[in-house]
Amino acid sequence: RNIEKSLEDFNTRTAKLFNYFLINGISGAEKALEYYQSRNLTTDMINKFMLGYCPSKKGWLFNFLLKKGFQKDFLKKCGLFSSKAPDYCLFSDRLVFPIFNTRGIVIGFGGRRLSDNSKFPKYINSPETGIFKKKNSLYGLYQSIDEIKKTNSVVIVEGYFDVIALHQANVKNVVAPLGTAFTIEQANILKRYASDFFFLFDSDSAGLEATYKAGIIAEKIGVNPYCISLPLGEDPASVLEKKGGDSLYSCVIEHFEKKIDVFKYILEKYSKNTILSIRDTKEAVIKKMFGYISSIKSSVRREEFFELLSNVIKIPITVLKDDFYKNFINND
Ligand code: CTP
Ligand code: MN
Ligand code: MN
Ligand code: MN
Ligand code: MN
Repeated sequence: RNIEKSLEDFNTRTAKLFNYFLINGISGAEKALEYYQSRNLTTDMINKFMLGYCPSKKGWLFNFLLKKGFQKDFLKKCGLFSSKAPDYCLFSDRLVFPIFNTRGIVIGFGGRRLSDNSKFPKYINSPETGIFKKKNSLYGLYQSIDEIKKTNSVVIVEGYFDVIALHQANVKNVVAPLGTAFTIEQANILKRYASDFFFLFDSDSAGLEATYKAGIIAEKIGVNPYCISLPLGEDPASVLEKKGGDSLYSCVIEHFEKKIDVFKYILEKYSKNTILSIRDTKEAVIKKMFGYISSIKSSVRREEFFELLSNVIKIPITVLKDDFYKNFINND
């Protein structure tokens, strides 16, 4: 209990410190600020998400925090430093994204590499601590929760920059998982506030696969899974960067009314085999779609999707259903 409170205070204070470094150009933060600007982010967004920069000098932060009165033992457990070399900061020379809980307390951090040096991973996240469990946390939930409740809908994107890009474009009901796949725990948290889930993952094959899996999770917990699609190869942040906020806004907003079912979207992509890695046989597509249908509880909804599948794949619905109930469900 006590250590949890200390971690909460520590993280919140450190987030403010990283933000202060960035805003005031301290310890090489100019290039970080330039980087944010190169991605078209406004100062408003830097403030709203308390974005920051972690200085690069080895051992600097550790010593700084020691001087501020933090104990060595505490700093070893706080999640900012390497477990092997205690004064080595995991986030050094990175952009820092504080991760808030719904009470507005910072529970962990995401960090993006500034350089192109692919020797280091592009993103890292805080290790799990007593107050930070990745599968139960969502980036942007704190900043988006009011709008999620108000609209009864939530947009789920892949990354930190995507959440921020959409807020800047005036779409404010957006969250992202924390560098892992979208989990059922995260889905259940969102279900408390919204029943329409709009998945807006990167327009690439990994994004399509993630959409398929996220759709299944949404079906399992009984919320409505819809899709928002972007031009091939783009993600929300890249649209903001290249075309600006108004363009991103109009890209997204039309989908709120269209409400394209994940099932329908996936089926279309798979059967057209545009960005698909699985073999383009009818059988492969059917198996994939059967996997989706088996996560649906409502028979009415199952019927609706059998019909759709039958139309697209051009196999009679009775044959499909026969195969599904005789062979697929039993074997799986
Ligand atoms: N991610 C991660 N580790 C990586 C790459 C990605 O944890 N090595 C997580 C991050 O949370 C990131 C999200 O996955 O925000 C989305 O990943 P990706 O789409 O690959 O990020 P990019 O769009 O390429 O990142 P950026 O826009 O910053 O270049
Ligand atoms: Mn990438
Ligand atoms: Mn991606
Ligand atoms: Mn991306
Ligand atoms: Mn991106």
